[in-house]
Amino acid sequence: MDKLGKQGVAIVKSAAVLIRNRDADFPFRQDSDFWYLTGFNEPEAVAVFIPEREEGEFILFCQPRDPAMERWTGRRAGVEGVVADYGADQAFVIGELDKRLPNLISGRSEIHYRLGTDEGLDQQVMSWINVLRRQVRNGIPAPTTLKMLDVILHDMRLFKAPEEVAMMRYAAQTSARAHTKAMQICRPQMNEFQIEAELVREFRVDGMVPAYNSIVGAGENGCILHYVENNCPLKAGDLLLIDAAGEHQGYASDITRTFPVSGKFSPEQRALYQVVLDAQKAAIAAVKPGNTWDDPHQAAVRALTSGLVALGLLQGSVEELMKDPPPPADGEKASEAPYRQFYMHKTGHWLGLDVHDVGEYKMNGEWRILETGMVLTVEPGLYISPADNVDPKWWNIGIRIEDDVLVTHDGCEILTSGVVKEIHDIEALMAG
Ligand code: GLY
Ligand code: MN
Ligand code: MN
Repeated sequence: MDKLGKQGVAIVKSAAVLIRNRDADFPFRQDSDFWYLTGFNEPEAVAVFIPEREEGEFILFCQPRDPAMERWTGRRAGVEGVVADYGADQAFVIGELDKRLPNLISGRSEIHYRLGTDEGLDQQVMSWINVLRRQVRNGIPAPTTLKMLDVILHDMRLFKAPEEVAMMRYAAQTSARAHTKAMQICRPQMNEFQIEAELVREFRVDGMVPAYNSIVGAGENGCILHYVENNCPLKAGDLLLIDAAGEHQGYASDITRTFPVSGKFSPEQRALYQVVLDAQKAAIAAVKPGNTWDDPHQAAVRALTSGLVALGLLQGSVEELMKDPPPPADGEKASEAPYRQFYMHKTGHWLGLDVHDVGEYKMNGEWRILETGMVLTVEPGLYISPADNVDPKWWNIGIRIEDDVLVTHDGCEILTSGVVKEIHDIEALMAG
């Protein structure tokens, strides 16, 4: 409300129910902006924020109570419920949105909402403005400015309040336990989907759902970054890469661990794993207030590249191998730094209500400075496939190690430290 100011108004819409096939819906997931501002988990709702409006600043449009419908589709709070239980100052049924909105925003010059993501909402906002334009002879000017609500809201979401950190810590602990379980139960000849089932079981035991589609990929599947089929048998001698985690009250965690199906790393797996682990630790050491968003990535790339050189997978000077070549001349194909053959993604992302959470990574063209209360992932990896021109002993090794870290006043806290990542700890756990 403070950031909107007296001339502003914000409009935020709930997510919609998505049909999976015919009468079956996808599980409902609330829009993260709407959830952050309201804690209200129903579809067909619109929140309106009108700072310093006398009759109430927080107005919620929602589905009406309807016993016949609720018998089929579940309970609804209704207009009384959203005032009593969700802190709305006023509530109206969603069917009255078009009738009431022009009056509600009348006299405000700036409308903040998510422009250009929901065609229906874009048209509605225009129609409300047009109603007000036709009324200017009453002496009230129509709104003049549409603004992306993201600018205000997503910067707020980037900084986690203590209550949010508590929820993220819980999601991280449960997810770490799920990964520990996966290491303990993994045996050759099991199927990837059986490991996935155990992970999801651990999430659900604590009331969570997966924060994203679980990746459970062994051997060559571990080299496919977004592998989600999870339907191949586990072979002794292969590595298993698991990127899976739960979300608690909408707050995500995001963990990757990689371990040998049979419980013991081969010499090549061990060597590459240690390179990734060292890179991850170097990156985590670079997460502290005052460093930039890009510092952990640069630390990871440097460690990975020097590790690849030491193992003979890259030849040349680390400095040169890390460097992105200049942009191509017209018509020429873009080339990239040599390390990117084996490490083709970034080292992390903001984490919060969305797994790839909102928040700017650059400010005024410069990498953002890390500040207390931000949460990010640190997830370097190496992926070597038969398409790479290297000794076949390295083929089909895909490794990623991913933790969630909270920037604290003097460094960072690893939220996902509940699952081991040192080679000897993994081997000991799997032997136990
Ligand atoms: N699991 C998604 C990611 O690691 O970014
Ligand atoms: Mn992940
Ligand atoms: Mn991630």
